[in-house]
Amino acid sequence: MKSKILIIDDDTSLRRVLEYNLQEAGYQVYVAAGGEEGLRLFLEENPILVISDMKMPGMDGMQLLKAVKERSPETLVIMITAFGTVDMAVEAMKAGAYDYITKPFNRDELRLIVAKALQFNGLATENKRLKSELSDRRDFSSIIGSSPQMGKVFEIVRKVADTDASVLITGESGTGKELVARSIHTQSARKNAPFVAINCAAIPRDLLESELFGHVKGAFTGATKDKTGKFQLADGGTLFLDEVGELPLELQPKLLRALQEKVIEPVGGTKPHKLDVRMVSATNLDIEKALVDATFRDDLYYRLAVIPIHLPSLRERREDIALLLRYFCGKHGAKEVRFDARAMETFNSYRWPGNVRELENLVERLLIMRSSDTITRDDLPDKIVNGGSATGTASVAGNVINLPDEGYPLEQLEREVVVEALERNHWNQTAAAKFLSIPRHTLIYRIVKYGILSPEK
Ligand SMILES: Nc1ncnc2c1ncn2[C@@H]1O[C@H](COP(=O)(O)OP(=O)(O)OP(=O)(O)O)[C@@H](O)[C@H]1O
Ligand SMILES: [Mg+2]
Repeated sequence: MKSKILIIDDDTSLRRVLEYNLQEAGYQVYVAAGGEEGLRLFLEENPILVISDMKMPGMDGMQLLKAVKERSPETLVIMITAFGTVDMAVEAMKAGAYDYITKPFNRDELRLIVAKALQFNGLATENKRLKSELSDRRDFSSIIGSSPQMGKVFEIVRKVADTDASVLITGESGTGKELVARSIHTQSARKNAPFVAINCAAIPRDLLESELFGHVKGAFTGATKDKTGKFQLADGGTLFLDEVGELPLELQPKLLRALQEKVIEPVGGTKPHKLDVRMVSATNLDIEKALVDATFRDDLYYRLAVIPIHLPSLRERREDIALLLRYFCGKHGAKEVRFDARAMETFNSYRWPGNVRELENLVERLLIMRSSDTITRDDLPDKIVNGGSATGTASVAGNVINLPDEGYPLEQLEREVVVEALERNHWNQTAAAKFLSIPRHTLIYRIVKYGILSPEK
């Protein structure tokens, strides 16, 4: 099916030229001589692209732009401006125009700008589809949190968003790394250009290079036509490299070169492409360990992590729990729902290994299953409450700490945590100390204090 384009211009000859050129380029073209007529045609035909003159008698280009954007924010609008009226073009971009083209222009300029717009539209549609697959995450911009830790994150995001500095986001699973990456993009001047995400862990090794950099026809068996890589798709915008810690060592030099020289070479290609891409990456792996193990190049790491952002786990910022609960209830259309004090207490002592994602999933489930608008501790799944009543012992199971109702000595708990850390790390003290995020001497102090003996001794 041909892409529909609507042209609105009061200048008959220019309208004809545009119509002819775009028809020849394979588009389905509609024309209107003024704003009112244009808007009517727009509503009837629902074109994906509108090209409109700025100055027209009656409804002018700005009014038309606003009317179109109000009804259909996705529709791309390109404004035609006269030479020397760049100010107006800038106004139009602020009001949501995708781009502008200055009179006089030639055929190639016109086709290029249209092709770019349609490619962008394709990406936007694709992005939208992916977003809705991720179960209705409409509002990527709202990152919730009022804890000092999140305050710091917001501050860094605000400062770096509108620069081209590479950002590396670290944090446990579900802490909002992708959310932050998108927010950096939408707060930058690149916001109208694509945000392209690629998950390095999800793509088979031997396909990753061509996914990233593209390939030319015949580059390898099965390369039956040219493929545009994610880098090129992100040109002018932001490329989000998720789980970058999983990037195979053999691909790292090529990525480094792309970042340093801002050029990429498709697999099997001979001529490099110049690109303008802002890089945001994320990892929940211990990337510092990968550096020590030399599975990640440090020169690449420093390139990617010009600005490091660490997202705190939810258990490190429990003051955000109540806020997030309220936010997700609202998001899922249940503003009236409340959690009673014991439920809140349970949430506040739960470990939240899946962080905000786990909390949101839980809220969704509780909202479906609830019998009233007040959710109590009895409504919570076992995993979260885990029969903490009257067992007389504490246990760390499935990342949940269960404390008996009658209380429990902190020192006893600490001893158990230390033993667990040692066991999990095969009694390697350095590894156990790292696991607990304490210096080794602090660990040894506790081993001595509690008289902990390894099984061999
Ligand atoms: N601070 C927050 N405010 C609101 N929603 C959040 C917040 N943090 C995370 N979320 C939501 O939690 C879910 C998980 O977030 P996201 O996908 O960004 O996590 P992630 O760190 O990339 O996780 P993973 O490492 O598993 O990929 C998303 O639905 C996101 O919208
Ligand atoms: Mg993620």
